[in-house]
Amino acid sequence: MATGTCAALLEVRALTERLCATLTPEDSAVQAMDDASPTKWHLAHTTWFIETFALPRLCRDYQPVDPRFGYLFNSYYEALGPRHERPKRGLLTRPSLREVADYRQRVDAVLAEAGRDLDEETARVLVLALNHEQQHQELILTDIKYLFGQNPLRPAYREARALPAASSPAPVRWMPQDAGLQWIGAKEGRGLDDFVFDNECPRHRVFVEPHALASRPVTCGEYRDFIVDGGYETPTLWLSDGWSAVQSNGWHAPLYWRRAGDSFLLTTLEGERPVADDEPVCHVSYYEADAFARWAGAHLPTEEEWELAAREVPVEGNLLDSDVLHPRPAPSFSSSARPAQLFGDVWEWTRSAYLPYSGFRPFEGAFGEYNGKFMMNQMVLRGGSCFTPQSHLRATYRNFFPPGARWQMSGIRLARDLS
Ligand SMILES: [Fe+2]
Repeated sequence: MATGTCAALLEVRALTERLCATLTPEDSAVQAMDDASPTKWHLAHTTWFIETFALPRLCRDYQPVDPRFGYLFNSYYEALGPRHERPKRGLLTRPSLREVADYRQRVDAVLAEAGRDLDEETARVLVLALNHEQQHQELILTDIKYLFGQNPLRPAYREARALPAASSPAPVRWMPQDAGLQWIGAKEGRGLDDFVFDNECPRHRVFVEPHALASRPVTCGEYRDFIVDGGYETPTLWLSDGWSAVQSNGWHAPLYWRRAGDSFLLTTLEGERPVADDEPVCHVSYYEADAFARWAGAHLPTEEEWELAAREVPVEGNLLDSDVLHPRPAPSFSSSARPAQLFGDVWEWTRSAYLPYSGFRPFEGAFGEYNGKFMMNQMVLRGGSCFTPQSHLRATYRNFFPPGARWQMSGIRLARDLS
């Protein structure tokens, strides 16, 4: 029986499979757009990652299950050679879902046999594989949501679950935050309990001007006011690229909002239903978040402002572990001096470009391609979403997507200058 790091990885992989339990083989094979991958591909790719980077370290004579899988399921590692084109992942009707399940079982069997005494580098690789698997858990959910959102039948990923009724969130309060010279970022750590990605390091100082953060994320009701006020028809609210995106894509509301008379319907993983005004707005691009903030007389926080607010806050909230799979309204009352919902519900766009911190050192070898080469033309998001595993997150965690991306669980928290 596996113990320690291998056991932890196997536990995470078992959750991946539970997340896919309601999907048919047809659901699992289709790629709904270039940026999204089929579930089957995610299942195989995370397995390939372990097979390629960890298993040769665990078994001296390890032979790949199928040497052709390296070409099919390598995502973007140039160091490992050529690979199947990303936009064509949905064409891979073979290997079948059953064969991919078998692939997973065979790799898991090796992990299950591994001993407890791992050398330090092997343990590090397995911990990275665990965190990688968790990232793909969120992607499986965002990508299947996008796929179902394209289907006129609006299929449900699962049956709707009854939740306790939530009362309306309290109006936004502006909460002054620490300013001046501050430390952000993480110390390097590659163990099960102290793992951080290379892009979170090193700890370093930043100078932060006086500012306040909104006490909670922007709600659907507030975003609807922006729409009704002509937000999508007012070019002066938008960045130039954002206005181009509005016009070329015909955006008039967040992704998954569908106009129905005077109101909107919303695609969720539990099917389509009316937009709920009290829930945090989700599935907006950076451009929409920025335009909303301008309309509201505010701006988006920088990533350091966000991190400083979150550094003493426990990583708790509506995360994947809650199994709600949709953002929940903020509390109707809070006496806390800290902003609510920093973790979970929706990833929060920051106005920080995704760049290396001063002193950044990429992981060594092929893992150096994991984060560093994407530090261009993307914006940082913070805080995780209702699709993010709790154990995957921390205050220093940096997510990143291009400013036009809307299929992730991306929402808005506002900030204001106080100087
Ligand atoms: Fe990956």
